[in-house]
Formats: sequence, structure tokens, C-alpha cells
Amino acid sequence: MKTKKIAAIGILLLSVQASANKFEGIAETPPMGWNSWNTFACDINEELIKDMANVMVSSGMKAVGYEYINIDDCWHGERDNNGFIQVDATRFPSGMKAVADYVHSKGLKLGIYSDAGDKTCGGKPGSNGYEYQDALQYARWGVDYLKYDWCNTENLKAEGAYRTMRDALFSAKRPVVLSICEWGDNKPWLWGEEMGHLWRTTGDIIDCWDCEVDHGTWSSWGIMRILDMQDGLRQYAGPGHWNDPDMMEVGNSMSVNEDRAHFSIWAMLAAPLIAGNDLRTMSVEAKNTLTNSDIIAINQDKLGVQAFKYKVEHEMEYWFKPLADKSWAMMILNRGEKSQKVHFDWKKEDVVDPFFPVEGNKYKTNFINSRFQITDLWNKRSLGTTNKALTVEVASHSVVVYRLDKISNKDKH
Ligand code: GLA
Repeated sequence: MKTKKIAAIGILLLSVQASANKFEGIAETPPMGWNSWNTFACDINEELIKDMANVMVSSGMKAVGYEYINIDDCWHGERDNNGFIQVDATRFPSGMKAVADYVHSKGLKLGIYSDAGDKTCGGKPGSNGYEYQDALQYARWGVDYLKYDWCNTENLKAEGAYRTMRDALFSAKRPVVLSICEWGDNKPWLWGEEMGHLWRTTGDIIDCWDCEVDHGTWSSWGIMRILDMQDGLRQYAGPGHWNDPDMMEVGNSMSVNEDRAHFSIWAMLAAPLIAGNDLRTMSVEAKNTLTNSDIIAINQDKLGVQAFKYKVEHEMEYWFKPLADKSWAMMILNRGEKSQKVHFDWKKEDVVDPFFPVEGNKYKTNFINSRFQITDLWNKRSLGTTNKALTVEVASHSVVVYRLDKISNKDKH
């Protein structure tokens, strides 16, 4: 008995030690921000980054929770004689510290990008062999977020490479959100919680509803393709460790309905909400989509549980996400080419979370005994209660999203 107890304490200590080098408490809800890659790729400079920080404030995005201004690939110059990485002085003449100071002066945080291999995907110097020096440099500059990519890593093991960078950042002592970006190749959901705060689950996103764009050795994927690749991953995410289906394409080229669906899906999946459009020139519709605070509240809900696909009827999908205050978010997605009228009789539906939190104590709606107030979060109106069956028309490539607030409390969650 005693030996068993000692062994148990030993295992506990080991597991505490094992994750001791990760900064805790800095991504308790999915990170929100903007990243340069989807629109600008390598065409970036300090004025652009500062402009984005300005617009993040003036557009109201900061007020609804967006926080990080993330510089993706191609900010790099060469290493100096001591091996410290420098910025590209043509693109960033004031230096990265000045950019960080500016972003911080707006009440925002700065993100940067590197790669575990010898070179980044864009051919710039990678961090392989320089992890501790790079982490030190980022800390000196005032960097708050690191996206760490996986190009040119043929001789590396992902888990070890991300552990090294995690330890390097930790030893530099400035809290940094670590975004693992190895495209899901090494099942990061199985080890990512210990190494970082979010992990990409797929290859790169592209701004189309349901397409694959073949680049030869790799493909980029439309919204529906990425959604389908999230199957089976929801149980791995939670506060401090999120599945990342990639940065968003809202405001790039899709229709308003498609953008709303894309944004709602990311919210339901408790995905990081990292905008990837040009904030300076975005349409009113794109801005309204990105700043829908009711949808954001679903994403940022403290319970941190991803939605599950409850039911599929042809092109229609019904998704449910349990929320911290015992309410639920519900999304009806029309993937198809035609508008569809759907009927949902609450009393005939038994919505039970298939996984969380633990077997035997699952979240369930229990519509028979519990009544919920229904609020339509895109059209901003109340739709009555779950006592009456719902009939709604869902446009093609579109969603409706409801918040279901419990009003009678005969049952637990
Ligand atoms: C990879 C990543 C992208 C982006 C580019 C930069 O493809 O998945 O998100 O960071 O590299 O080169």
C-alpha cells in the first residue's frame, strides 16, 4: 500500500516536472489576433505591422478581444558574428524592439515566427542549433508569441524540437505563447499540451469554401476540408492547449455568408481567432463578422470545450458546444449549394456530449426537462424557447448560430 502511494507521488512529481518549463496561464482561452501571412506572405515591413496595430485598435477589434499582432515568415536578416539573429534592416529599419514597443504602446502584444529547421519555409535562417540564443533575442526585443514552423526538419523529431524551443523560451524568462506549426504531421495533439499552447492540426488554409489547391509536394485546403480534418481531435483541446485549424481567411475573397460560417466554425471549435486579412482595407461586413462579440464569447468561453457534430442530414450539420454557465451554443451549417429549410424539435433530440468532461458525468441538454431561451447570434434576436420546435431557413454555404440559455433548472448541465 505504502509503496503504491510513494509510486503515485513519484509519478505525480514527474508529470509536474515534465511540464514545468511551459509558461502557464497565458492562453486560458484561445489566442486572438492578426497574422501577416495569409495576405502579405513575405511582403512585410515595419510600417505595415504598425498600421495593423493601429487599425486593430481603431476598428474596435482590440475592444472585443483581439490582442496579438503576429509577424510571420520573412522578417529575418542574417545572424551576427555571435550567432544572434537580426532583422532584415531594409524591411524593419527601426529594429524589432522598436516595433514591439510600438505594438505594446497600443496595449497589444507582438508575435514573431521561426522554424525548427535550418531554414524557414521562406528560406530565412531557422532556429535549429540556435534555440536558446533566439529565445534570448526575442525576450530582449519584447516578443510575446512565437509561431514555430516545421520546414527543413528532415533530421529532427517534432516532439523533441518543440521541447527544446519551449525550454529555451522558458529559460529566457519572458512569457511567450508557443504556437506549434507542424501541420498535424506528428500528431501534436498527443504531446503538444506539454510543449506549447496551440498546435496546427492541418496543412495551410486557403480562401475557398471547399477546395484543395495542389502545390506539388503539399496542398492548401478550403474551409470545409479543414473542418472535416478536425474529426476526432476535440478531446485533446482545453484551456492552455488548443487545436489550431490555421489562421482565418475572413475578409479575403469569400462571400459574406461563407465568411460568417468560417468565423462561426472557428468559434465553435474553440480555435485561435487569428485574422489573416488586410485590416486597413476590410469591408464593413468583414469587420462586423470579425467583431461579432456574441460569437467571440462562444469561442472565448472559459470551459474551453470544443463543439461536437451532433447530427448530419445530407448537407446540413448540427453542432453543439457546452458553455461554462450551463448554456449551450448551437450551429446549423449548410454546406450545400441550395438554401434549406430545417425543422428541429428540441423535445425529440437528446444532445449529449460524447466525451466531456468524464464518462458518467457528461454534458447533456435534456430538452425534455429543461427549457432554454434561444438567441440568434447573427441576426441579434430572440427566437423564443425550446418548448416550441424550430423551423429555420439556412442559406447555402452559411450558418445560423444560437445561444441556448437555460431558464428552467430541473436538471444539471
Ligand atoms: C508554412 C506555414 C504557414 C506560413 C508559411 C511561411 O507553410 O504553415 O502558415 O507560416 O509556412 O513560410
